[in-house]
Amino acid sequence: MRRVLLIAHRVPVSGAFTLNDLAGGGGRMDEIARCVSTFFSLSNALRQDVELTILFVAQPPPKARRIEVVGNRLRYLNPDERSTAALLKNALVRSIPLDRDVESSPGIRVGPVDPGPSIRAFAQHAGTFWLSEDGHPYRGSPLLDGGFSAILSDPTDPTPDEVEELKSLGIPKLSLGPRSMRSSQCLDVLNHESDLRELERPRDPVR
Ligand SMILES: C[S@@+](CC[C@H](N)C(=O)[O-])C[C@H]1O[C@@H](n2cnc3c(N)ncnc32)[C@H](O)[C@@H]1O
Repeated sequence: MRRVLLIAHRVPVSGAFTLNDLAGGGGRMDEIARCVSTFFSLSNALRQDVELTILFVAQPPPKARRIEVVGNRLRYLNPDERSTAALLKNALVRSIPLDRDVESSPGIRVGPVDPGPSIRAFAQHAGTFWLSEDGHPYRGSPLLDGGFSAILSDPTDPTPDEVEELKSLGIPKLSLGPRSMRSSQCLDVLNHESDLRELERPRDPVR
C-alpha cells in the first residue's frame, strides 16, 4: 500500500472559498487538488493501491478537518484540478455541521480531527517517513520498498509545533533531491520510484 499524509495549512476549513480563486482565497486548494489528481490518476485509470489523508489545520479542533481519499473506492475523479477541488470543497462543506465522519462521495470520507493525535496515528504505519529537502536521499532507501507511508506539507512548511511532533515521534526524514519541489511533484516522484521498484521485485518463478 502507498499511503500519504498531507498537511494543508491555509485552506478555509469550512469550504468557504470560490472555485475561481483556489490559490488565493482557497488557501492553495489548487495544490491540494493537484496532489489528489497526481497521486491517484494514471493516463487512463485510477491507482487502486493508494490512500491519501489530508489534514486541514487552518482552524484548531473542533473545526479542523480530515479528508481520507481511498483509491479502490474512489469515483468521480476527473483530470482537471477545478472539479477535484469541487469534490474536496463539497466534503468540507458537508462536514461542517457534523461531529462525525461521513462519506461525502465514493472514496472520500471527511470528519473532525485533532491534528496531533492524527499525525501520531498515521506514524504507526511501519516505515513512515517525513519528506523534507534536508533528509536522507530516497534512492536506495528501504523505506520505499513494497509501498510507502509518507508525510508531507502543502506550500507552507510544517509549523514549529508540527516539526516538534514529527521529531518526537522519531520519524526519519527522506529527501527527494536538493531542489524544493511542489507537493504534487513529490507525490509523482514517490509513485514513479515505487512503480520501478515493483517492476524490479523478484517474482515467483514460473512453474
Ligand atoms: C512546496 S514545499 C514547501 C515549501 C518549500 N520548503 C519552500 O521553501 O518553498 C512542500 C513540501 O514538499 C516536500 N518537499 C518539497 N521538495 C522536497 C524535496 N526535494 N525532498 C523532500 N521533500 C520535499 C516537503 O514536505 C515540503 O514541505
